[in-house]
Amino acid sequence: MSNTSCRSFLHYVFDYETPRTLLIPHVGVGLVFRLSQLLVVLYVVGYVCVVQKAYQDTDSVISSVTTKVKGFAFTNTSDTEPRFWDVADYVIPSQGENSFFVLTNMVVTPRQTQSRCSELPNPSTSCVDDCDCVEGLSDPRGNGVQTGLCENYSTTVRTCEVVSWCPLELDTKLPEAALLAAAENFTVLIKNSITYPKFDVHRRNILPRINSSYLKTCTFNRSTDPHCPIFRLRDIVSEAGEEFQEMAVKGGVLGIIIDWSCDLDWWAGKCFPKYSFRRLDSKHPVNNVALGYNFRFAKYYKSPDGEESRTLIKAYGIRFDVIVFGIAGKFGIVPTIVNLGAALSFLSLVPVVSDWFMLTCLRKRNTYSKQKVTYLSEDDS
Ligand SMILES: *[C@@H]1O[C@H](CO)[C@@H](O)[C@H](O)[C@H]1NC(C)=O
Ligand SMILES: *[C@@H]1O[C@H](CO)[C@@H](O)[C@H](O)[C@H]1NC(C)=O
Ligand SMILES: *[C@@H]1O[C@H](CO)[C@@H](O)[C@H](O)[C@H]1NC(C)=O
Ligand SMILES: *[C@@H]1O[C@H](CO)[C@@H](O)[C@H](O)[C@H]1NC(C)=O
Repeated sequence: MSNTSCRSFLHYVFDYETPRTLLIPHVGVGLVFRLSQLLVVLYVVGYVCVVQKAYQDTDSVISSVTTKVKGFAFTNTSDTEPRFWDVADYVIPSQGENSFFVLTNMVVTPRQTQSRCSELPNPSTSCVDDCDCVEGLSDPRGNGVQTGLCENYSTTVRTCEVVSWCPLELDTKLPEAALLAAAENFTVLIKNSITYPKFDVHRRNILPRINSSYLKTCTFNRSTDPHCPIFRLRDIVSEAGEEFQEMAVKGGVLGIIIDWSCDLDWWAGKCFPKYSFRRLDSKHPVNNVALGYNFRFAKYYKSPDGEESRTLIKAYGIRFDVIVFGIAGKFGIVPTIVNLGAALSFLSLVPVVSDWFMLTCLRKRNTYSKQKVTYLSEDDS
């Protein structure tokens, strides 16, 4: 190894760098320097502290919900028998959970028995004679197991016969105006208890200042009674931007959203639930195929002579889902130090920006550049 290359190698390893301060008496670069500092400080105070509340520890909500619907109705339309309805008839299932279903419309098929009848007409079930029907075939889209016979469905149409609950349900005859139109005036009491376990905070949506005489008479109204936990179904639907009577015909799913987001620091004031409502099943404005919400259930009877029969009900209605969410924040020393440190580290960018400005934009940039790095040899003294 030659002497010079050995020396330059040693320089790399053992040279010591020490920063040296250059004082630049220039208003422009001074302005850039202070402005960048100001920006960082504004970011720390404005965004990190005020908007993000990064000085807080957070916890998410744990909640329990019970619901109780009230109201009754009397229906007397041309195609159904007069009938009185109470909660046990139209809320399914009857246990009040965080999701409840209110029946508003239905197709009833009474007195079905286990017997044989001809299929509902459609291209795959219509037949001319028995050769078109296959004994034992059970099409999942059909209504029963085929017997292999071709029978009259009406005076003009013949279809394959099936073993099934007969007569078959004809659900194309859905009432065009909802049967239980009166359901718009039903009310629901929502009881919601929440906990923020980390902070040992427990709250109820029935606030301490609500007394029982108020609870007996109030209904939720965003402007006059924003903390009343009793909601009229029509108000819920209309706050979600829907028309109750229109939605009641084919059903749907509505979300009752309770926001418990809270700032638990003593300077932040009280913590109340905030209610909002939105339709959860999509109502596509153009494609209205298979809209709504429905399901089937049956009631079974046995006649004195032992024959079993049932009443099949295809129930249309609105399912209300209570969705509780929330995050609570409270001052914590650890997040404060961590987030403040992270935010203030942006201050180390300030000299970089100022140096860049000084070395590219100023007139005397070459002088500054020469001054910025000085190499001292050991012999200088
Ligand atoms: C089926 O309909 C045809 C013509 O509509 C009629 O002639 C025949 O008697 C009917 N069969 C039964 C079993 O009702
Ligand atoms: C609901 O109640 C209001 C009055 O409180 C009444 O005018 C309206 O007709 C009721 N709706 C139905 C469908 O009965
Ligand atoms: C219940 O509260 C209401 C106001 O919210 C008040 O007017 C009423 O007097 C209270 N009743 C009782 C029994 O405290
Ligand atoms: C809420 O109360 C105000 C004032 O009493 C009333 O005008 C408004 O119609 C009520 N809103 C609902 C949805 O009932």
